[in-house]
Amino acid sequence: MMATPEAVKNRAEELRREIEQHNYNYYVMDSPAITDDSFDVLMRELASLEKSYPDVVAPDSPTMRVGGSPREGFVTVSHLSPMLSLGNAFDENELRDFDRRVRQGTDNDEVEYVTELKIDGLAVSVLYRDGSLVRAATRGDGENGEEITPNIKTVRSVPLRLREAVGLLEVRGEAYMSKEAFAALNQSREDTGDPLFANPRNAAAGSLRQLDHTVTASRQLSVFMYAVGSVEGTSLLTHQSVLEYLKRQGFRVNPHYRVFKDIEGVIGFCKEWQHSRFDLPYATDGVVVKVNRLDQQVSLGATMKSPRWAIAYKYPPEQARTVVRDIILRVGRTGVLTPTAILKPVKLAGTTVTKATLHNEDIIRDRDIRIGDTVLVQKAGDIIPEVLEVVREERKGGQEPFNMPSECPECQSQVIRLQGEAAVRCVNPNCPARSREGLIHFVSKGAMDIAGLGPAVVSQLILAGLVKDPADLYRLRKDQLVSLDRMGEKSAQNLIDALEKSRQNPLHRLIFALGIRHVGERAAKILDRKFGSLENIISAHPEDLVNTPEIGPRIAGSITEFFSDPSNIKLVERLGLLGLNMKSREHREGSAPGVLDGKTVVLTGGLKRFTRQEAQELVESLGGKVSSGVSKKTDLVVAGEDPGSKYDKALKLGIRVISEEDFTALAEEGK
Ligand code: IVH
Repeated sequence: MMATPEAVKNRAEELRREIEQHNYNYYVMDSPAITDDSFDVLMRELASLEKSYPDVVAPDSPTMRVGGSPREGFVTVSHLSPMLSLGNAFDENELRDFDRRVRQGTDNDEVEYVTELKIDGLAVSVLYRDGSLVRAATRGDGENGEEITPNIKTVRSVPLRLREAVGLLEVRGEAYMSKEAFAALNQSREDTGDPLFANPRNAAAGSLRQLDHTVTASRQLSVFMYAVGSVEGTSLLTHQSVLEYLKRQGFRVNPHYRVFKDIEGVIGFCKEWQHSRFDLPYATDGVVVKVNRLDQQVSLGATMKSPRWAIAYKYPPEQARTVVRDIILRVGRTGVLTPTAILKPVKLAGTTVTKATLHNEDIIRDRDIRIGDTVLVQKAGDIIPEVLEVVREERKGGQEPFNMPSECPECQSQVIRLQGEAAVRCVNPNCPARSREGLIHFVSKGAMDIAGLGPAVVSQLILAGLVKDPADLYRLRKDQLVSLDRMGEKSAQNLIDALEKSRQNPLHRLIFALGIRHVGERAAKILDRKFGSLENIISAHPEDLVNTPEIGPRIAGSITEFFSDPSNIKLVERLGLLGLNMKSREHREGSAPGVLDGKTVVLTGGLKRFTRQEAQELVESLGGKVSSGVSKKTDLVVAGEDPGSKYDKALKLGIRVISEEDFTALAEEGK
């Protein structure tokens, strides 16, 4: 075999570094510097180099984040040092007691505390040797945990390499699912009749402990690191410097930590976050208080279970009492009937709650929830309101137990409950509610994103007999729209324009819009890139789908099932005939070179006509890529209102700067 040329090795290394830097910008710093498409170009180049020269493949290559096949079972590993858990404090006095114990244990030395938010996830340990990630594990019983290396590698905020290599570093932190990802995951599980996760902690644990790590990859997990278990060659003196060290090494550290000189400051911090924590994008259930000086931590030591130098202050769960005014049933996209309690409005964890999902008939029966009952409500994961229990003393009599109907409330077809499932489904594939939900999904933001076509207008269109399925939308005429209630000339024209524009949407939007079970926005993008056209996806061999990174058997199975239904094929054909884009950008035949082909564009200042996302998509549709910072490599800067420092830098570097108007003109010219 020929030796791999040095230039190839260097290029692979350069790409790895660049890709991981972009991962860092995006997932750790929340400030992407390039678009998804430009990122993919780099990933594809690296993957193709590694394919052609297998000996340049490295276990810490970004291509390995989803590499490998599902495993047979979990392996138990022992932690280098025990992963302790924390004692709890439930009020201010218990915090003061903790402070007293700490000061006694340190001979009344001065003690500083670090406060951190307590993230509702699960503890993980990640081990690096010579700067590369080699092992990850769950906490388990504290001594031994489950090895989850392939799963952790799919979490992009976990670096595969350290910035400064050290012989050994074991870091600990919390893997979690954001409120948004948790709500979306449960919503889609509810729609498909899969069992729900009770809270983000269970969702994160269930997602990490997967033998098939492609499932983990599809779950949008994130991580905040908060401790070093073991490290070689670094002498850190305080917990604060541990957190700063972790940041320097490229880890994601929660920014809301603070250092206090005394326990009163700590108590103030706990109070400050009691309500504002509901504004965070992730669920928190308390504050972790840690002694700052590491020598004091050592002298305080630990009991069998928990350290004496740290404590978890727990917020009381936010609950509220209210009345169930009604129980209604929503028929979802896949025909699942979901019962929802309509509540007397009540303030809870930062919002006014008017509804709570009841999930399924088993839950209603087990908790014996009836219309008219006074109930206790809580938010699962600080976000999804649910009925916890009935306040029995308030039941005055007369409330009847709730029974699931035997007919679909929308189309009166029979409903069935499959064995082993909690969900009840309408059997009618043409149930109007199913079509309506399917249409609402089709036009929604992440899908075809058709402005002015919300659920209410969709319902009107169906009622007026104008639309039955997504293809019908593209045959609507303005005069038909104007005939609808509350639809003026202008809104009708806007809607027609939005539909027209959406014909050119990138392919992944259409794939997602079709509503194939388990195919979320990310899977849609992966399919778009790998297969290049809807036709190729439809005719793909199941094996090709299964072997697509991040797709895996579950998603592949549902794609095959979806396209084995002739009515779905027919729908796709009709959409194609109506002029919807069915191909990936680079696969479009005869596409003229865009006016921005190969150009790097920076957007700065406030744009009036476009959102950032729209402007970015426009640049990409013209062949360019958007970058966040101005450098010598920038070809063009589009300056909106109050453009700021990027504008100044562009002028200094002599880069062409154009106004939003010029940009629009350029785009028109390029079409
Ligand atoms: S420190 C010995 N810091 O809370 C110290 N834990 O109740 C170990 N947790 O098992 C933990 N956020 O899963 C620490 N900022 C934070 C945390 C945190 C969440 C979890 C962790 C731990 C549990 C203890």
